[in-house]
Amino acid sequence: MTRVCALSDLDDGKPLAVEVDDVAVVLVRQGDEVHALRDECSHSAVELSEGEVSRKGIECWLHGSCFDLRTGRPSALPATDPIDVYAVTVESGEVHVDITTVLNT
Ligand code: FES
Repeated sequence: MTRVCALSDLDDGKPLAVEVDDVAVVLVRQGDEVHALRDECSHSAVELSEGEVSRKGIECWLHGSCFDLRTGRPSALPATDPIDVYAVTVESGEVHVDITTVLNT
C-alpha cells in the first residue's frame, strides 16, 4: 500500500490524478468511500481524470464511455474493455492505494 493523499484532499465526485509507482491512477471519492482506477481510458488511452463523475461512474471526456467505479467496466461504447480497479484503504484520514491488487480481474 502506498499513501497517496489525505482524504480531505479529495472533493466528493471530483477526480484526482495521482501517480503510484509510475502508474497513473485516478481517485474518486464518494462520501467516505474512495475508488482508485487506472487513469487511462481503454479505448484510446486518454486520462479519465479529465472526465466527469456521475452516478454511473467516470465518463471519458473524449468519446463518452462511462466506467463503473467498482467494476471498471464501460457501460457504453466505444470502449469495450474494462480498466483496472485497485485496492484502496482509508486509515486515520489517509488514503492508500495498492496497484498490485487489481480488484476486477
Ligand atoms: S478515448 Fe475514451 S471513449 Fe474514446
